[in-house]
Amino acid sequence: MANDNAKKRIVFGCDHAGYEIREEIIAFLRDRGYDVFDCGSSGPGSVDYPVIADTVCKAVQSDPSALAVLICGTGIGMSIAANKHTGIRAAVCWNEECASLARRHNNANVICLGARMLTTDKIKEIIDAFLNASFEGGRHQKRVDMLDGSRD
Ligand code: RB5
Repeated sequence: MANDNAKKRIVFGCDHAGYEIREEIIAFLRDRGYDVFDCGSSGPGSVDYPVIADTVCKAVQSDPSALAVLICGTGIGMSIAANKHTGIRAAVCWNEECASLARRHNNANVICLGARMLTTDKIKEIIDAFLNASFEGGRHQKRVDMLDGSRD
């Protein structure tokens, strides 16, 4: 399906909680024309979500035009891990409105989803909402700029 994001790179990563749905989600993204860069997990065994998040975020850092999809049990661990990385704005999303606003207002470049919280169909709908929205800039730009750098 053609849209503004066609051929955009989508970096994908999941831990064991997302493993069961990973092939379906990757196929879903490829069906929509995205260039999916798969960072695993490559097997059903237990894997630590910070490791996957780190690999995915480094791929986004090296290609700032890319977006990423991270899946764990809740989406929470992946988002905490992802947001440790410079230039990464990761949002846990549980419905389409949050996903759209995460792009439009927060310029989120990573969406984190909970495979144990949402149906696979709902995850696809949420991903669509995320990928079909664009950052609006304007009053949101200076706030997003404030996110970079340490706030300690
Ligand atoms: C793994 O069991 C689970 O803790 C992980 O997928 C995630 O939900 C953490 O936030």
